[in-house]
Amino acid sequence: MPVDFDITPSREEISYEALQELFIKCGWGDRGGSFFLKKAFLHSNHALFAITFDRELIGCIRALSDGVYYATIHDLVVDPAWQKRGVGTALLKTMMDYLRHIPTVLVPALPESTGFYQRLGFTRHRFAMARFLSREKQRLFDPPEHV
Ligand SMILES: CC(C)(COP(=O)(O)OP(=O)(O)OC[C@H]1O[C@@H](n2cnc3c(N)ncnc32)[C@H](O)[C@@H]1OP(=O)(O)O)[C@@H](O)C(=O)NCCC(=O)NCCS
Repeated sequence: MPVDFDITPSREEISYEALQELFIKCGWGDRGGSFFLKKAFLHSNHALFAITFDRELIGCIRALSDGVYYATIHDLVVDPAWQKRGVGTALLKTMMDYLRHIPTVLVPALPESTGFYQRLGFTRHRFAMARFLSREKQRLFDPPEHV
């Protein structure tokens, strides 16, 4: 299949309203609004966007990193109309290239996406702890008997 999208780190050029629409399309809600999405992406150490050649925003990923020991990956989403065409893989591989010197890279992964991460070299680990302000968010990541 020909590559018909580009990966860009240009955070200033993208539309955060379009980014919010992308999260809504993926079923992740409005993330509190484009103002907060923009703030989160601008404050992340790395952010990447997948853009079609006619400038449609179809995917994103961001990472928080201390630049030495640890990084965490967040908000990897691809427009459902563009899934299974290599966009998510391209976003994650490009991000992992940015993080290639970081010894430990963590990602909170929903059950349905663990296969995707495993295929790209991630392994499951048993020792992550998390504190969630929202019970709804906690339910997403925990088995029901733990909530
Ligand atoms: C998880 C997610 C980011 C993957 O994005 P994607 O663009 O579909 O990923 P890819 O196309 O690179 O790979 C997905 C699958 O399609 C397959 N694929 C890739 N290119 C393909 C092609 N040209 N033809 C057919 N299949 C293809 C891959 O082999 C992969 O298989 P897998 O399910 O065994 O991993 C996407 O499904 C998504 O946005 N999900 C909702 C949000 C989410 O769960 N994000 C993860 C954070 S927890």
